[in-house]
Amino acid sequence: EKGGYDYFMLKEIAEQPRAVADTLLGRVAVDGTLTLDEMRLAPEELRDINKIVIIACGTSYHAGLIAKYAIEHWCRIPCEVEVASEFRYRDPILDRQTMVIAISQSGESMDTLMAVRYAREQRARVLAICNVNGSTIPRESDGVLYTHAGPEVGVAATKTFLTQLIACYLVGLYLAQVRNLKFGDEVNAVIEQLSGMPEQVERVLSMMEPMRDLARSLSGANTVLFLGRHVGYPVAMEGALKLKELAYMHAEAFAAGELKHGSIALIEEGVPVVVVVPSREGRSVLHDKIVSNIQEIRARGARTIVIAEEGDEKVRPYADTLIEIPAVPTLLQPIVATVPMQVFASELALAKGNDVDQPRNLAKSVTVE
Ligand code: F6R
Repeated sequence: EKGGYDYFMLKEIAEQPRAVADTLLGRVAVDGTLTLDEMRLAPEELRDINKIVIIACGTSYHAGLIAKYAIEHWCRIPCEVEVASEFRYRDPILDRQTMVIAISQSGESMDTLMAVRYAREQRARVLAICNVNGSTIPRESDGVLYTHAGPEVGVAATKTFLTQLIACYLVGLYLAQVRNLKFGDEVNAVIEQLSGMPEQVERVLSMMEPMRDLARSLSGANTVLFLGRHVGYPVAMEGALKLKELAYMHAEAFAAGELKHGSIALIEEGVPVVVVVPSREGRSVLHDKIVSNIQEIRARGARTIVIAEEGDEKVRPYADTLIEIPAVPTLLQPIVATVPMQVFASELALAKGNDVDQPRNLAKSVTVE
């Protein structure tokens, strides 16, 4: 049942191209029109929305952070993202024109469920993004968009995260279509690029040998730092979370622009720092800035592990290890940039002899608050 793999998690990482394809299946028509039937929110309701609030925990929260960049850019609707366990305790402002998106793989996380109940009491429209059919969160929401990742046995979320990203992109693009914003050019182009993502995930998986070699050499490290900016920042956060839960190592993610505001003091000789380099498409300013960040930390002794697009010659001179990923549009980059994070954490954990399917102290679905 592990399909020749030693652990379910490794099988689930390999299944990602299929999971991504299945989540897109039947939702994108040939002409680019999106059909998200189970959303059960009428176009009139969607046109009235003036605020989006995303609530989730752990890895699902990281999907929400990435969704914010895409939704605000494509739909021009203000979007907040909050960890579900904090949400209802701070008296958040919600009304009929607020759309709450609850992201939960299991559909059973108690923190997220309680936040959903609270949001509905405040009359917000709640859309669930879930992987488990008929689970509690979608049953208690107004609408649902299922990710079609198939069952995930490994406790650490992998293929469900990539499919949550796809679902979030679909919601953002659908809202843009319904609200007629920018539809016709950019949104149309992204919809087409989205259809190419299963192939890109397949490619990035085939490029992971250098990441495996590197991970095995780092099992003695005390800490690993992760840096990113724009959508690369939540990817860095996901990299740090995966490393903590699987390899039981201290790891922390920073927004690269925050380095100079304090955390650069942590950099000393030999500290491994994984840097997610933004795609060069459209946002070359960000790209240049992160190249300077890499130079700064390297000058202070950091061992730089750079995740960058194929053919990115500007970063090469500053990378102690260069991990190449396929070039894809900026907002979609997390789909491919997350894969090296998963491989890094699982390989390091295996090198330490850990059970990557059942990390200590963790449960697949957290049904207590
Ligand atoms: C991390 C992980 C957890 C879950 C979190 C939310 O790999 O699996 O952080 O993402 O417990 O779970 P769901 O998405 O089921 O609500």
